[in-house]
Amino acid sequence: MKIGIIGPGAMGTFLAGVLGKHNQITLVGRQGLDIERVEIVGETELISEIDFTTDVSELSDTELIVICTKAFDTEVAVKGLIDHLPSECKLLSLQNGLKNEEIIAKYIGEERTIGGITSHGVTYLGTGKVKHAGKGETVIGGYPNRHDEKEIAEVFDKAGIKTELSDNIIGHIWKKVIVNVGINPITALLGVKNGFLLEDEYLHCLVEEVVDEATEVAKGYTELPVEDTFEETKRVAKTTQDNRSSMLQDIDNKRRTEIDQITGAVVEKGEESGVSVNVNRTLHGLVKGLERSYL
Ligand SMILES: NC(=O)c1ccc[n+]([C@@H]2O[C@H](COP(=O)([O-])OP(=O)(O)OC[C@H]3O[C@@H](n4cnc5c(N)ncnc54)[C@H](OP(=O)(O)O)[C@@H]3O)[C@@H](O)[C@H]2O)c1
Repeated sequence: MKIGIIGPGAMGTFLAGVLGKHNQITLVGRQGLDIERVEIVGETELISEIDFTTDVSELSDTELIVICTKAFDTEVAVKGLIDHLPSECKLLSLQNGLKNEEIIAKYIGEERTIGGITSHGVTYLGTGKVKHAGKGETVIGGYPNRHDEKEIAEVFDKAGIKTELSDNIIGHIWKKVIVNVGINPITALLGVKNGFLLEDEYLHCLVEEVVDEATEVAKGYTELPVEDTFEETKRVAKTTQDNRSSMLQDIDNKRRTEIDQITGAVVEKGEESGVSVNVNRTLHGLVKGLERSYL
């Protein structure tokens, strides 16, 4: 398959590497980089030959585009693409955050929009080089309902990214956002690893409150694919106990975080539907304040 990947960061470089073994990959960045091959170390070890470009017109014969920018860059990235894509080309988001698919569908139509989540952990080591830090579930599905994504799931499976097809991708996206609102802001504010949330009694309760609020909001928009979102959040915190969350890494490196697209989006939806989101609003404000102190 001819696949375009937008964003040569951690996730984009990883996917270019694993998918590059059996597919023709064009990795697209917004600034010129010298990448002819990508290297993955860690759980997966491989080197793949790929094409790199900053010129989106080179995607004119692409069958699938995977968006791997941070969620706050989705709109600009998609807007820049749409005039250059063949009419059959589909766009898949594997980002975090609540609104990526909504943004993609606005520009390209729901029938060509595929939603997704992935819990593979990837760390950026440098241009064209990443560490595959841990495996996790990947789920994709047509937005808002399933279309025909079987071939794409097979391409990902063949690349070693075991991929589930879902009729309820919105529910999966909400589930991931709920876990993220529970783990990311608190670890980012306190500078602690994910596992610390399970050790401290006060933080344990705080996570429960944050997750409960977000779950109540989610129920107004979707059917969640797990019964107990707090248990799910604790499970993720346990399996990633030695990790520094992506939001904490962004704070550490004085980069913009995805707080608006994760916690901010839940607060917005809560206010829209009249569900109390006081704790999430507070965490959103604190992370925004921290971000403003260095941005
Ligand atoms: N890393 C993980 O383990 C992981 C796991 C699951 C989900 N995710 C999600 O995946 C998404 C990407 O995360 P990441 O860790 O890969 O972020 P990242 O390392 O910051 O990479 C984002 C990349 O997108 C590029 N970009 C931004 N706008 C662009 C545009 N218009 N055209 C082309 N490239 C553009 C950025 O380029 P510049 O350098 O020019 O800014 C950067 O290289 C996020 O939503 C994240 O939450 C990540």
